[in-house]
Amino acid sequence: MLVEARNISLDVPDMNHRAVFGARRRLRILRNVSLSIAKGETVGIAGESGSGKTSLGRTLLRLHEPGEGRLLFDGADITHEDPARLKPLRRRMQMIFQDPQSSLNPRQTVGRILSTALRLHGLPADSRTLSAILDRVGLPASALTRYPHQLSGGQRQRVGIARAISLKPDFVVADEIVSGLDVSTQAQVLDLLRSLRADMGMALAFISHDLSVVRHLCARVVIMREGGIIETGDTARVFAAPQTAFTRTLIDSIPLPEIRPGWLDQPASR
Ligand SMILES: Nc1ncnc2c1ncn2[C@@H]1O[C@H](COP(=O)(O)OP(=O)(O)O)[C@@H](O)[C@H]1O
Ligand SMILES: [Mg+2]
Repeated sequence: MLVEARNISLDVPDMNHRAVFGARRRLRILRNVSLSIAKGETVGIAGESGSGKTSLGRTLLRLHEPGEGRLLFDGADITHEDPARLKPLRRRMQMIFQDPQSSLNPRQTVGRILSTALRLHGLPADSRTLSAILDRVGLPASALTRYPHQLSGGQRQRVGIARAISLKPDFVVADEIVSGLDVSTQAQVLDLLRSLRADMGMALAFISHDLSVVRHLCARVVIMREGGIIETGDTARVFAAPQTAFTRTLIDSIPLPEIRPGWLDQPASR
């Protein structure tokens, strides 16, 4: 297994609660979560807003330290690994964020954003390399001198994808990456992700509250509720025969197929 979470929990300081004698009350936002992702595998993480999807994605990347349980990456136990020892693994595990507007530095050009990420990991960042990366995500070389606010939402999301894949990661967490986009731009960005996954063979945790998107990108899905996984299995099986009433409700809340674009009819593949 590339990524393995065994019975992890996550507690965070409760930001809605006033600190008493300097100590904030802690809130458990993940409970007893187990999830394994093989090399090159795509797993969907679905569930309502607030169910813990983002927290799980960040914990799988060891951006949060689990309170209980064990987290392994490529066989190494990184549950309580310190930042210095995590650093060489950081290049291999990347995140693409929900909102590129806030995850891309507004004062840096696209070229600067990409070269900063590459240099941080000791990789070459010459202009030919940068242009090739942009080309791979369907952006012209002229985008190198643009600032994020000069790009459309779809183009910004392509820059976020470019930054992540430029490091040739083994594992990518994509967190609601098409949520803010219109339906046709969503389809283009998902097609791009699909083709990058096929070319590069990275493992992908694809987080979405929208089960219809998960269904067509992920052969396997986990359903989250209140910080735990309540159902997991092959996506086709989960859709055909959900094991919980809650999953059924999520499926029933998907809009009618007529209004979904045609690309969604392609079957999911690992
Ligand atoms: N630092 C924090 N303080 C208090 N509550 C938090 C904190 N971080 C996350 N939460 C809560 O944890 C739950 C899970 O959040 P999140 O992982 O963002 O869910 P999702 O991505 O599924 O919408 C939510 O109820 C959220 O409000
Ligand atoms: Mg989220």
